[in-house]
Amino acid sequence: MEHSARHTMIFTALLCVVFSVLVSSVAVGLKDRQDENVRLDRIKNVLGVAGLKSTDEDLSAEEMLARFESGLEARVVDLATGEYVEGVDALSFDQRKAAKDSETSEAVPANAAKVRRVPHQVVIYLIKAGDETSGVVIPIEGYGLWSTLYGYLALETDGRTVKGITYYSHGETPGLGGEVDNDRWKALWPGRLAFDDKGKPALRVKKGQAGPAETDPYQVDGLSGATITSRGVSNMLAFWLGRDGFATYIQKFKQQQGGQG
Ligand SMILES: Cc1cc2nc3c(=O)[nH]c(=O)nc-3n(C[C@H](O)[C@H](O)[C@H](O)COP(=O)(O)O)c2cc1C
Repeated sequence: MEHSARHTMIFTALLCVVFSVLVSSVAVGLKDRQDENVRLDRIKNVLGVAGLKSTDEDLSAEEMLARFESGLEARVVDLATGEYVEGVDALSFDQRKAAKDSETSEAVPANAAKVRRVPHQVVIYLIKAGDETSGVVIPIEGYGLWSTLYGYLALETDGRTVKGITYYSHGETPGLGGEVDNDRWKALWPGRLAFDDKGKPALRVKKGQAGPAETDPYQVDGLSGATITSRGVSNMLAFWLGRDGFATYIQKFKQQQGGQG
């Protein structure tokens, strides 16, 4: 009896070791594929928010990359000065990692979006139509109810009119806060205005229904049953369109576009 109990324990222990090794090697083996899928999903979101991919288009990885290369130019921006940074590869620059490192980021005053640090350098995407720039995509992030939401906001060349919004990563509840992913909700954004006449960030998600962009340009419908996530979206817009975010860059972007005619 004692003998068989020992055998059972040895067998169980061996089984555990064998399966742990198996599971971890599969996980390690799939890591590259997972990373690639995350990258492609990010590219898909940038294309969508830039208006370079419609929601019903199902593109292969190659098609997405080709469209990304022809329609977008990734640039690194110094957040404090709003100037483009030369000599840093925008495609491999990891902004989220930079935001965590005290050498490459800055603490910001307490804010409703719960952004604690901003990276010195950020990646934006210029939307290209041939040689002309037709807009810009800026990264946004901030706290909702359960999670930090990561996404992009695209603006026209006036630096004010919204082209689109998208989230590529969040942990909000599907059907509630998770409706930030809903195409019908995202379709309410184009044509709204990010800043008021005085240049102050003004765009927000209201509780309830907003009017059309022409008559109610600063508000978007709230997500029903998800007031906290909706407020999170408003908070992160206020932060990233503000002085600690992209205000300086957007001002310069707008002037450059004006200069281009
Ligand atoms: C299981 C569960 C998940 C929820 N998930 C979310 C969420 O993702 N985002 C959110 O804003 N509210 C969520 N809520 C609801 C909030 O607790 C809160 O009631 C809601 O934001 C209020 O919105 P309303 O005023 O539109 O009803 C969740 C509630 C429950 C019980």
